[in-house]
Amino acid sequence: MFLKVLNDKIMNRWQFLKNMGLSGAAIFALTCTGASLGSCTNEDDPPPTPTGVDFTLDLSAPENAPLSAIGGFIIKNKVVVATVSAGSYVAVTQICSHEGNPGITYKASAMEFVCSVHGARFNKEGQGINPNGKNNLKVYKTNLTGTKLRVTE
Ligand code: FES
Repeated sequence: MFLKVLNDKIMNRWQFLKNMGLSGAAIFALTCTGASLGSCTNEDDPPPTPTGVDFTLDLSAPENAPLSAIGGFIIKNKVVVATVSAGSYVAVTQICSHEGNPGITYKASAMEFVCSVHGARFNKEGQGINPNGKNNLKVYKTNLTGTKLRVTE
């Protein structure tokens, strides 16, 4: 029966793991990390986008130095924070809305967010600009006070 289910073309791997009783987080860990069974496969399920996001970056700290340049970005708590223009920052989920892989980075030369896995592309508002980006990206709020950049839901 186990192999029959695996061979059933109707049920994809994500649904299969759900039916095995695994939680969304466990499925993500199995399918989207180093202990991978392969890439995630169902772009219809909502990706495990970070929730409860609330952190502050000290822009004067060495680890945040990439944000001092336009086009620079850092990744913290599965959130990509990019400097899109002088004093303007955009924060989006690192988890791609295409198949749930943590592949999002900021491509300064194109001024867009991109996914390294299958090439999904998103503008600074998180809107998809190619077919693999059609589900858009979660965008978080940013608020700069002095050298402190707060990122929240
Ligand atoms: S996971 Fe497919 S483009 Fe990002």
